[in-house]
Amino acid sequence: MEYLGKDIPKLGFGLMRLPLIGEEIDIEQTKQMVDLFLAKGFTYFDTAYGYFNGKSEEAVKTVLVDRYPRESFQLATKLPAWIASSEEEAKKMFETSLRRTGAGYFDFYLMHNISEKRKEAFDKYKIWDYLRELKEKGLVRHIGFSYHDKAALLDKILTELPDVEFVQLQINYADWESDSVESRKCYEVALKHNKPIIIMEPVKGGVLANPGPKINQIFKEANPEASLASWAIRFAASLDNVITVLSGMSNLEQMKDNISYMEHFQPLNDYEREVIRRAQEALKEIPSIPCTSCQYCVKDCPQQINIPFFFVAMNRNLIFGDLKGAKFEYKMAMKFGSEDPAKCIACGNCERVCPQQLKIIDHLKDAVQLLS
Ligand SMILES: NC(=O)c1ccc[n+]([C@@H]2O[C@H](COP(=O)([O-])OP(=O)(O)OC[C@H]3O[C@@H](n4cnc5c(N)ncnc54)[C@H](OP(=O)(O)O)[C@@H]3O)[C@@H](O)[C@H]2O)c1
Ligand code: SF4
Ligand code: SF4
Repeated sequence: MEYLGKDIPKLGFGLMRLPLIGEEIDIEQTKQMVDLFLAKGFTYFDTAYGYFNGKSEEAVKTVLVDRYPRESFQLATKLPAWIASSEEEAKKMFETSLRRTGAGYFDFYLMHNISEKRKEAFDKYKIWDYLRELKEKGLVRHIGFSYHDKAALLDKILTELPDVEFVQLQINYADWESDSVESRKCYEVALKHNKPIIIMEPVKGGVLANPGPKINQIFKEANPEASLASWAIRFAASLDNVITVLSGMSNLEQMKDNISYMEHFQPLNDYEREVIRRAQEALKEIPSIPCTSCQYCVKDCPQQINIPFFFVAMNRNLIFGDLKGAKFEYKMAMKFGSEDPAKCIACGNCERVCPQQLKIIDHLKDAVQLLS
């Protein structure tokens, strides 16, 4: 089937987790990664206005734009309207991205990270109309958005904006059936609207490069040679209608590994699909907080605590043993609109409506104790 980006190689370079020396991007190592990536036939690069406070876009100029013909690669970046305080400020971000990268135009340009809350800013500042204008002027070639919310809202947005050309979704085998991420459901909504998909977070931000002893054993028994990350990236790349799978490779070794199996990419065969299914089943068996992120508890909380956010963070530690990632998610929850769970007054409103009958107050106390 023909679709936008069908011929783009299925491994993209996500420039959100670049190698670092101290706090600074390791430019020399990044140059080596870019050289290898392009030499092996890969072409897609994904950055954003906000990555490394703009230094990712600046690095793109140094490691890529100034060193390779512009038509030899595709470059994507994103506009985070939700950090702007006016329409003018939001629109200026495009010019800043263009200046930082020196790219002249962007192949793929995205509204960055749309969610129920953040959608307001894109609507208020008329960003979609602005992207259409940029496309008409030839400053961007394809317009779309990256998305981190539920499938129902995605369906609504794609219905409201029929000229969206593609969507970027968080998809990995561990979140495929997750009630909080809804990977599969979002993927199916994109298919329903006939939108090609760019996949982000295929390794769940690094967690699936070492998903814990039980899961590691399943994969290593199936194929002792294949890296654990390779299962995650090949799962994503085996889906239909995928433009590319972005991997946030953070050193040359990771890039070499990912290129080794993506250079002559073979979709998962039936046996490998069965192995992934076993890993998914094993993940379900690991004790966790069985919150379905239904949000029923959120609206009557007098303290405006977005309870399910904190349970997602707790589960990251419980299921994958990723305490660092769990603490990061805990912090992010407060940045993205929740009040501090330490402010819980134990009123019990949430527990009265939770369909899973969770001991929310106790779980929140545990979260504060472990992750704050
Ligand atoms: N809203 C948005 O638009 C949005 C949001 C998220 C991501 N993205 C884009 O999508 C890209 C991918 O997502 P992501 O970076 O969040 O997550 P990811 O690709 O799922 O995970 C990246 C991490 O996986 C590990 N990894 C990758 N390949 C490996 C290998 N072969 N062996 C061992 N470990 C390996 C590394 O972890 P360690 O560093 O721990 O070793 C790496 O930092 C980003 O870089 C960014 O460009 C966009
Ligand atoms: S018990 Fe705590 S979390 Fe639950 S509704 Fe009351 S204040 Fe909010
Ligand atoms: S009501 Fe229960 S299951 Fe639903 S989001 Fe809240 S804690 Fe999770």
